[in-house]
Amino acid sequence: MIPENTGPAAVIVLAAGAGTRMKSRTPKILHEIGGRSMVAHALLAARSVNPQQLAIVVRHERDLVARHLADVDPAAVIVDQDDIPGTGRAVEVALQALDASGPLAGTVVVTYGDVPLLTGALLAELVATHEREANAVTVLTAVLDDATGYGRILRGEDGTVTGIREHKDSSETERLIREVNSGIYAFDAAVLRDALAHVTTDNSQGEKYLTDVLGLARESGGRVAAVVTADRWQVEGANDRVQLSALGAELNRRTVEAWMRAGVTVVDPATTWIDSSVTLDEDVRILPNTQLHGTTTVARDAVVGPDTTLTDVTVGEGATVTRTHGSGAVIGARAAVGPFTYLRPGTVLGETGKIGAFYETKNVTIGRGSKLSHLGYAGDAEIGEDTNIGCGNITANYDGEKKHRTVIGSGVRTGSNTVFVAPVTVGDGAYSGAGAVIRKDVPAGALVLTVAAQRNTEGWVAANRPGTRSAELAQAATKDSSSTPASTEEGNQP
Ligand code: UD1
Ligand code: MG
Repeated sequence: MIPENTGPAAVIVLAAGAGTRMKSRTPKILHEIGGRSMVAHALLAARSVNPQQLAIVVRHERDLVARHLADVDPAAVIVDQDDIPGTGRAVEVALQALDASGPLAGTVVVTYGDVPLLTGALLAELVATHEREANAVTVLTAVLDDATGYGRILRGEDGTVTGIREHKDSSETERLIREVNSGIYAFDAAVLRDALAHVTTDNSQGEKYLTDVLGLARESGGRVAAVVTADRWQVEGANDRVQLSALGAELNRRTVEAWMRAGVTVVDPATTWIDSSVTLDEDVRILPNTQLHGTTTVARDAVVGPDTTLTDVTVGEGATVTRTHGSGAVIGARAAVGPFTYLRPGTVLGETGKIGAFYETKNVTIGRGSKLSHLGYAGDAEIGEDTNIGCGNITANYDGEKKHRTVIGSGVRTGSNTVFVAPVTVGDGAYSGAGAVIRKDVPAGALVLTVAAQRNTEGWVAANRPGTRSAELAQAATKDSSSTPASTEEGNQP
């Protein structure tokens, strides 16, 4: 039988650190870029090499982190680090936990939970090199202009990697080395297990350094090598909010570029933000100042933006969404939304339908070809096909205690300022007059009017607002029109 996971024996993700420089009540690795936590990015990269097991080492804010992990990767084995500090100890406790169900053999990969731009492709390259060269340890490195703080890669005269020296433990000359340890490695499981048993805390930080494994592996005759990446972003961690936003911007730049290469027009990449979880079809056009979040999907030929934020919204083929703030909505093919439209969860707009300017919608299903063009609120409602909802219509869905439904049929035409006092049903093909307040069901094909007779009290302004600009203009107008003089009717009549 072919095993399901053909990748390394295990990936161990280190995430026990405190991340104090974030200055946050939220654990560092739960901070988000590109719409998902840093640790979720790290776990996706780890998963993509198909490890047989995946462990994550936690300690700081352990319960908060564990709860998040249950959402993003429930199969991950959560391992608690004890009081002994250091990356070496973190890997040791993980290895012990994984070994409990039979000692691991083969490749064990170590990565960090706070390195969100690492791709599965680079991790796979590390594993492939490690296994092809039959190394004991293969470390991923990068050459930086400023290597301050990082462990330096020590190489012999022939260029072979001989070890790693932590910044704090390094000499003046070692500090000139610009090739740094990313903290991401592939190990042979047996070598790692044996070496960790010999790693001490005898260093400037009093920690068990994972980096000491390289020297020990060499001493016992193993090959140690490096994969050098030219893409420093992939090995960069976020320690504070400045780095977090730099990584977020770079991730976004990569996401937007990938979509452009896949056939999406992005007019202004600098003001377009697309979460990693969003999917777009070919020939979608994204106009400036647009943010696409969550599970948003946009189908072919649709145009989104400018100035639009969509979260978990499905945009159909050829639809247009202009200056809109939407979440949890479905927009049908060739439908039009905006400008200045607020789509709330449960909004479903049918094909070729329209939700126009200054509309708010929530929990409403709108049939094919129906239009809510201007100024209104539609909530807890169902609207049929080819219905035209006039300007300023409101579903009065809330009685102060409960929400009620409005059901409007197909082919309905409503006059401006119609109010539907829910629960209420309007039959197919019905019409309403301007200002109708519909409190009772309207049968199919009926005209509903709720009319109070109009009374004009002539001369009211002259009598009650004498000397005002209105009175002056009214007087001029009544003189101009050669009509009969203003009535002397009393102003305060009911
Ligand atoms: C470590 C490396 C250093 C490398 C750098 C890259 C060691 C000794 N040093 O240094 O060579 O250049 O990463 O960023 O490994 N962690 C735990 N448990 C611990 C300590 C750390 O899980 O006890 C986790 C942290 O959450 C973090 C990662 O390990 O994800 C690295 O820890 P950090 O303290 O940042 O290591 P550095 O000292 O920066
Ligand atoms: Mg660090």
